[in-house]
Amino acid sequence: VEAPILAGLKVVITAGPTREAIDPVRYISNHSSGKMGYALAAAAQQLGAEVCLLSGPVNLSTPVGVKKIDTITAQAMHQAALAKAEDCDIFIACAAVADYRVAEIAEHKIKKTDDCDEMQLRLVKNPDVVASVAALPNKPFTVGFAAETQDLNHYAKQKMARKNLDMIAANDVSKPEQGFNSEQNALKVFWPDGEQQLDLADKSALAKQLLALIAKQYAAQ
Ligand code: C5P
Repeated sequence: VEAPILAGLKVVITAGPTREAIDPVRYISNHSSGKMGYALAAAAQQLGAEVCLLSGPVNLSTPVGVKKIDTITAQAMHQAALAKAEDCDIFIACAAVADYRVAEIAEHKIKKTDDCDEMQLRLVKNPDVVASVAALPNKPFTVGFAAETQDLNHYAKQKMARKNLDMIAANDVSKPEQGFNSEQNALKVFWPDGEQQLDLADKSALAKQLLALIAKQYAAQ
């Protein structure tokens, strides 16, 4: 019998949204369910990898045999990723990290005022988790995701180059039956000298197909 395709490899996967506090009761986040990242973690474990999942707040159970580290904010996910990335072979960034966080988190609940109909929140840019990992001198094979609503190919390739990624999996989130929160997804996968379309399928089936592509390109590098 052949060894499973990820046997002996350490894989780190980010999943889910991040949550950026505004005050003690409010936050900024997004619609990421974490399903794709969790499906990748489960599949990678089944394919023989030692898997560490860096997860934002989601309502999913941890796949059997997977080590999970919970993070809430982008900054916390960034720290955890840098700590883990040094010691892994493959890093897959599936998390929908908030691009911006609130500059100053209010210590107490912000009150509604009678005299003013507007309020402003000052936001500052969050660190880019996957770009930071891909900038490490000893960088793992680094895979990113790109959720786009238009010009999928163009933006995905641009993102792969800009973030120094080895592969990018693009999904068209303008279609309601795939992507955010749905059970299914379709991906167009790019690497520097190739591409492959993965047709609409359950996220667990798609995860296995994507990991097969990753294993192949990892071995070829
Ligand atoms: O630039 P954009 O957010 O669309 O890029 C998506 C890719 O970058 C995903 O792989 C996502 O996990 C990753 N990302 C990240 N940290 C950020 C923003 C995005 O790791 N702050």
